[in-house]
Amino acid sequence: MKASILSEYNKVEWKDVETPKCKPGEVLIKVTYGCICGSDQHIHKGEFHPRTKVPMIMGHEFGGTVAEVGKGVAGWEVGDKVAPDPIMWCGECPACKKGHYPACTSLKLIGIDSDGGFCEYISLPPSMLYKVPAHIPDKHVALVEVLSIGCHAKNRAGVQANDTIVIWGAGKVGLCILEAVRTVTENTVFIVDILDERLAIGPEYYENVIPINAEKENPVEKIKKLTGRKGVDIAFEAVGHAHEIDGGVNPVVGCIQSISGGGKVCVLGLGAEPAPVVFKELIWKEGTIITSRVSHGEFAEVIEHLENGRLKPDALISKVLHGSETQKGFELLDENPAENIKILLDFGSE
Ligand SMILES: NC(=O)c1ccc[n+]([C@@H]2O[C@H](COP(=O)([O-])OP(=O)(O)OC[C@H]3O[C@@H](n4cnc5c(N)ncnc54)[C@H](O)[C@@H]3O)[C@@H](O)[C@H]2O)c1
Ligand SMILES: [Zn+2]
Ligand SMILES: [Zn+2]
Repeated sequence: MKASILSEYNKVEWKDVETPKCKPGEVLIKVTYGCICGSDQHIHKGEFHPRTKVPMIMGHEFGGTVAEVGKGVAGWEVGDKVAPDPIMWCGECPACKKGHYPACTSLKLIGIDSDGGFCEYISLPPSMLYKVPAHIPDKHVALVEVLSIGCHAKNRAGVQANDTIVIWGAGKVGLCILEAVRTVTENTVFIVDILDERLAIGPEYYENVIPINAEKENPVEKIKKLTGRKGVDIAFEAVGHAHEIDGGVNPVVGCIQSISGGGKVCVLGLGAEPAPVVFKELIWKEGTIITSRVSHGEFAEVIEHLENGRLKPDALISKVLHGSETQKGFELLDENPAENIKILLDFGSE
């Protein structure tokens, strides 16, 4: 089979490798589409080294159809559509025992800690697989993983139908949070970014989404003005750095200043630098800070909302390239982030 191999950092090659055998107790999947993640961009540059080793088959966001069912596997048939959950946790560490599987001390992902799904075939155990109804388009199946990140954040923050919300960051994660939030509430969602192209996506697909360009207007002031000085119930941070904009605040502080009394801030950005926060601003409001990491079990919820049409995954898709053009996909994401959110890679759509 062909696979997108990260042969050395910054270089993906489309190469022949041995097609995996369908092992007993596993299901052989013919990959239809893969999807480049922000983490893949870091892996590509070698920033996950030594956790990642080269050469490796990249890809933890992908979907496919069942090509062969291994001995002893029940409940799967050739042709079934499938969304693989790439996350593996141990089930034994203190975090797992408390039910905080995303915080597992030995959390591993296929496509990061071992070979992934940017290839034509992969064999996986059924415990990692979610069945997707046949009528869901293959392109949308590849987006189940990233949509589940947004759904997990929405669940961690406990979004309710009467909540107003701000999402700081209209990138891959921020837009997935918007999608997830819209499965619960039709209320106002403010979305803050510095790229007008990205800010345009939310309002194009959803009603009642107010874009704010943090380089052109003060997001906290605008949110206060449009909520009758109250502020929002929940603020999500999905930027990933703590740099202030001239005359403004850093994204975490912006979130804290935007919430109302008793509000919540849910932080997802994985910036390495500290985000200076005056806790008094949060304490005065008796606000809560929550964090959210990857997902756990939200695949089922995402698939249900793909079926009932409440999620609009086309909002995330910027381009579709052939699998052999994986390297080009990384270059486009680096060169032109304004116009590229999710780039899909076609590994075998029919
Ligand atoms: N917690 C999790 O489970 C999880 C999962 C995936 C990614 N992440 C992290 O979430 C963060 C966002 O990831 P992404 O893939 O969406 O990245 P992204 O680059 O696609 O999105 C970030 C967005 O923030 C915008 N931005 C930059 N500076 C800003 C500012 N000062 N104010 C407002 N907006 C600003 C950018 O223009 C961009 O659109 C990263 O730190 C990533 O590592 C977390
Ligand atoms: Zn991802
Ligand atoms: Zn564990």
